[in-house]
Amino acid sequence: MLENSEIKVSIEKMLIGYDNNGLVFDKGDCVIRRITPIYMKKIEDIYSFYKKNCRNDFGFVETILNTSAQELIHKKYLITYPYEWTANMFKDALLFHLDLFLRLDDYGYILKDAIPTNILFNGTKPVFVDFLSIINQENLKDEKWLFDIDTKRIDPRINIIEKMLVPYFIIPFLTFADHKYEEARFMLKERTCNNIEGIDLHWNDILPPKNLLQKMKEKIFGRKDCNRCGAIKRLIESEKDFKVLCEKLLKCIEEIPVTPENSGYLSYYNSKGEDFSLSDRKAWLPKQKIVCEAIEKFKPKTVLDLGANTGWFSLMAAQMGAHVVAVEIDESCVDNLYLHSKERKLNITPLQLAFEDLEKSYFGARYDDEAYKNRDFGNNPLFEAPVNRLKCDMTLCLALVHHLVLGIGISVAEVMRILAQITMKVLVLEVVTLDDELIVAEKKSKDSSFFRNIEDFSENNYSIDVFIKEGRNYFQNFSVYSSHPDSRKIIVFEK
Ligand SMILES: C[S@@+](CC[C@H](N)C(=O)[O-])C[C@H]1O[C@@H](n2cnc3c(N)ncnc32)[C@H](O)[C@@H]1O
Repeated sequence: MLENSEIKVSIEKMLIGYDNNGLVFDKGDCVIRRITPIYMKKIEDIYSFYKKNCRNDFGFVETILNTSAQELIHKKYLITYPYEWTANMFKDALLFHLDLFLRLDDYGYILKDAIPTNILFNGTKPVFVDFLSIINQENLKDEKWLFDIDTKRIDPRINIIEKMLVPYFIIPFLTFADHKYEEARFMLKERTCNNIEGIDLHWNDILPPKNLLQKMKEKIFGRKDCNRCGAIKRLIESEKDFKVLCEKLLKCIEEIPVTPENSGYLSYYNSKGEDFSLSDRKAWLPKQKIVCEAIEKFKPKTVLDLGANTGWFSLMAAQMGAHVVAVEIDESCVDNLYLHSKERKLNITPLQLAFEDLEKSYFGARYDDEAYKNRDFGNNPLFEAPVNRLKCDMTLCLALVHHLVLGIGISVAEVMRILAQITMKVLVLEVVTLDDELIVAEKKSKDSSFFRNIEDFSENNYSIDVFIKEGRNYFQNFSVYSSHPDSRKIIVFEK
């Protein structure tokens, strides 16, 4: 018995958060929330409300209350963070949150805060996972932090909008809508979602500047047309009825487009003549056939598609029954894949991420705060690295490594080390060799802006043999196939 519980403890991992009524642990196949004894009574009330009224269609995480263990047991979803979502995913998360406010209000309940990190995506469907955020509106008066702002309002529900929804959701959303992706992601990663106080963003961050300092900001951020920001700000400041405010915000936000402008990469498959129908196998080239055969052979439950572009191979894997995580750096491609997958209810979660950031984790600001001492913020990242969260049975890394090695200058050894870390069973790797006409033309043109480190590489440090040699440090078996054209090879590595 003791041994069992010891094993259990050793495989659970604390997930860092700022809630003071419970601690969250990843148990591998589910997530456990240990409730502080003093909060148990309230949780019983909330749980019975949840069971009776909102199990299926509210979008809450599937949950069971284990009263004797003082634990909530949650279904586990892929952990993703708001700064990795595509622009339209972020918009959908905001609309989902406003809709939840309205649904709960009908029953006298509310979410006591409004933070995008409380939402995860099941495929393309937002799921609200922070059970402890649900409270009876009568208990809002106990949330002291809601009353410490200089406001004439008497309805604390509107304070949640001002104190939480504005800095955590609306300001980053308007920044996405302004096509300032890097800035929006920075806000979510380094500021608002990574700060215990949580009010670190202000309307001044996005509204037209008034003084010199702000004028400098305008120069940096290039903001001029902020009519819609001003309109939303005025709406929040003037509307006195919580429900009406949520309804108006919902409508207003629905109408603001966030879809990124088309990038050159958006028409990649079309321009290569590889926008094949998924059902017309006869038309496929060796590349499509080899990947399909690998999926048929290994039957992965989960597939990670790195450098997915608009997701032709993600769509193939999803059609063959896998849960797919599609990672892509290009804002336009990855958002396009999200909208496409959402419309068709596909099991694909697209994420805007760069390969070179797969090992990056971020620690919580002010982790030494007294109130959160037991969470060991110094050793537990607030935002866990993708290599530890996005591991899948099969990784597809197709026509990407030449960007990483010849473009960014990452060594083959380093690329293979990261790929091995994120792959649970099988890696399908397509390598564009130095003989490929694309690479030869690039070298000849003397304009190596695309592959700016190309001069540092030769057959000695960038070839199929080098990839195989490095891969054998981590994988047991491998097979090599010719892709299309023949100067591209596919290596299927098995652990
Ligand atoms: C040549 S396309 C290959 C697309 C797809 N994997 C295939 O084989 O059909 C390379 C893709 O990788 C993306 N990409 C380039 N550098 C990247 C990086 N550092 N991290 C993530 N994606 C990247 C590009 O935006 C592009 O969509």
